[in-house]
Amino acid sequence: MHIDPLEKKWAHISLAIAGLFVGTILIDSLFHGINAPSNVETINSARLHLSKEFAEDKLGVQVDENGKIMVRMVAGRYGFFPKHIEIPAETPITFRWASIDVLHGVHMPMTNMSTMIVPGYVSEVTTAFPKPGEYPLLCNEYCGMGHDHMWSNVSVEAKETWLAPAITKTEETGDES
Ligand code: CUA
Repeated sequence: MHIDPLEKKWAHISLAIAGLFVGTILIDSLFHGINAPSNVETINSARLHLSKEFAEDKLGVQVDENGKIMVRMVAGRYGFFPKHIEIPAETPITFRWASIDVLHGVHMPMTNMSTMIVPGYVSEVTTAFPKPGEYPLLCNEYCGMGHDHMWSNVSVEAKETWLAPAITKTEETGDES
C-alpha cells in the first residue's frame, strides 16, 4: 500500500503526541499519586440528610478504633460542609464526598486532593498532606452563579499538636434508601 510521505510524517507526529499523553498519565499515576476517580458507589443525593453516613451530625473528621481518619463532607450550592475542618499533617486521611444538588468539584491547591463530586455518587480520596498550613477548599466545576464563592477552609496541623476528635464507632457506610 502506498502512503504519501507527508501523510506518513503526520501519522508519526500524531502517534508521538498520543504516546506523550499516555506517558504523562503513567508518570503522574506512578510518581505523583494522581489517579482517575474510580469509586463507583451510589447514594441518593435527595435523601443525604436522612442517610446513615451523610446526616448532619456525621459530617466532619472522625477517627475509628484503629486510628483511621475519615472526613465526610457534603458539597452544595454554595459551600462545603462543615465549613472548616482540622486534620493532621503526614497522616493518611480518607475523604468521602457527596453532593446535595448539582455537579461540584473540590480542589485543595498545592496538594493532590482533587476530585469531582457527582450527584448520586460518593467520591472517595485517600491522601496525606506533608505540610501543615491553612488551605482553602475550592469548587472547580461550574455549578451556578455562586460558584466563585464556593469554598471552605482546611487547617492542616502538625501531627504532634493535632487534637483528635473522640473515637467514633465504625458504621456501615452507604445509604439504605
Ligand atoms: Cu460548586 Cu462550583
